[in-house]
Amino acid sequence: VKVLWNDRIVNEDEVRIGFEDRGYQFGDGIYEVIKIYNGNLFTATEHINRLYASADKIQIVIPYTKDVLHKMLYDLIETNEVNVGHIYLQITRGISPRQHNLPNPPVEPVLTAYTKEAARPLDQQKNGVNACFDNDIRWLRCDIKSLNLLGNILSKEKASSNGYYEAILHRDELITEGSSSNVYGIKDGVLYTHPVSNLILNGITRNVILSCCEEIGLPVVESAFTTTQALEMDEFIMSSTTTEVMPVVSIDGQTIGNGKPGQWTKKIQQVFESKIS
Ligand code: PDD
Repeated sequence: VKVLWNDRIVNEDEVRIGFEDRGYQFGDGIYEVIKIYNGNLFTATEHINRLYASADKIQIVIPYTKDVLHKMLYDLIETNEVNVGHIYLQITRGISPRQHNLPNPPVEPVLTAYTKEAARPLDQQKNGVNACFDNDIRWLRCDIKSLNLLGNILSKEKASSNGYYEAILHRDELITEGSSSNVYGIKDGVLYTHPVSNLILNGITRNVILSCCEEIGLPVVESAFTTTQALEMDEFIMSSTTTEVMPVVSIDGQTIGNGKPGQWTKKIQQVFESKIS
């Protein structure tokens, strides 16, 4: 398989990463994961827009237009003949002698991207997954899709080493999002989720889900809820590009609703399915 290295599609072993690449030394860069269904990128424009927005927030100027980047990603998918899976892309600030200050004048950012054929997690979507709570110890710019993921990684590790699929993060009592997902609770026919702010990543799947809710007539309230309220929800969902609409059926060993994916969740999954096919 081939990979994208700056503006070229090359063999993986041709890629050379500078040891003073600021992505490597500081995690100084940004990324996206975009789903591929039937050889097509899903919500590519939204992901590319978010990538440029993340870049802008940390003063990286991406040296391609959005259209050129979009085309390069498609060329890579076609070259690798990916059917279902995803594309990972990252852009670092570039290579420059190590110092905290941003290089002045700026250096050329470094783009790398690869594709991965991967089956959708359909069994888990059907049966639901278990989650745990964890303290959200991350920084205050979680709106940036930064390569710096240590807080997320520690939470995910806490979850998976204890047999949980995802860690649901909270600042004090208020739930923000998952370690690599957005989260939602449904109670008495209303869907609650944390508002878009500096404390969460504005998920592309989140936006798709909110439009699914509109289509099925499920009212949405974008306001944060507590861990206690989470456990009292009728239904609970996590979402991301790779997990799509994923029912959470227990948290910290406590059953949510009747311990099975709920009616609203299934309806959202159905509408989501219609959007991707
Ligand atoms: N993660 N919140 C966090 C912290 C995330 O890392 C992600 C996605 C999301 C969901 O965003 P979206 O729906 O746009 O994928 C929310 C990706 C998939 C990852 O890091 O692999």
